[in-house]
Amino acid sequence: MLVKKFQRIFNRWIIEHKLRPQFDTLGRDTAVLKPLSVNITGSNIHAGDYLHIISNKQQAVSLTCWRSKQQQGKIVIGDYCLLSPGVKIASANSIKIGNNTMIAAEVYISDSDWHGLYNRVRPFRCTSPICIGENVWVGLRAIIGKGVSIGDNSVVGAGSVVVNDVPKNVVVAGNPARVIKTLNPQRRILKREFLFQGKEDYWLEQEALEDIFNKNNGTLHWLKSKFIPGRED
Ligand SMILES: CC(C)(COP(=O)(O)OP(=O)(O)OC[C@H]1O[C@@H](n2cnc3c(N)ncnc32)[C@H](O)[C@@H]1OP(=O)(O)O)[C@@H](O)C(=O)NCCC(=O)NCCS
Repeated sequence: MLVKKFQRIFNRWIIEHKLRPQFDTLGRDTAVLKPLSVNITGSNIHAGDYLHIISNKQQAVSLTCWRSKQQQGKIVIGDYCLLSPGVKIASANSIKIGNNTMIAAEVYISDSDWHGLYNRVRPFRCTSPICIGENVWVGLRAIIGKGVSIGDNSVVGAGSVVVNDVPKNVVVAGNPARVIKTLNPQRRILKREFLFQGKEDYWLEQEALEDIFNKNNGTLHWLKSKFIPGRED
């Protein structure tokens, strides 16, 4: 418990003093698992309130904005968004991600091919903005290429390669991604922001859950698990 409390304080400190200064703007209540593993490179990176990042050493989350004489990348992430382990977002132009959008593990989003077809030393004519709407769910290991717009509420299937625009309220999958289903726009979709409506309740619930998981996990147990791990460690 003591270790957990210390970890929480340390995490918060790293988020506020290491991560926040690297964003141009970052909203309130940012939650990051293993914030030291998040790589932020370049400027012009913005994120809204309640951004959740799940990152770790093996699957680091990285947000990169590239600047050249001709252009400057920009990443704008809305409120209540989720970035899962290994997500890479790289911009030489502009990438916008709407509120409530969830990006699953190891997704790659890039608004540039980084090399031209005939100019292999510069990203020449191979850069175009990406706009991902609100409440979009991008599945595991999908790739979203330059110039793509994805409409509100749509779902991108795992492993898809999205190189064409996706309308709103559909499910796309495959390589190249094509519409496989249409969502019923009359049906209510529970969005991520719902999790934070009783904001205090959410954090208390998370802490209560952690306490349940860590019931037998005292400081001594934690130390033992580091040197002589058992089946449950
Ligand atoms: C996109 C997805 C949500 C759709 O699920 P679903 O509505 O149950 O889809 P179905 O299983 O009915 O599939 C419909 C068709 O699309 C195809 N399809 C579904 N997902 C696909 C994918 N990722 N790639 C290629 N084809 C896919 C199916 O083979 C099926 O084709 P058929 O009609 O020729 O048989 C799901 O397939 C998916 O990709 N889930 C991954 C979610 C994820 O990444 N979670 C990580 C945690 S956030």
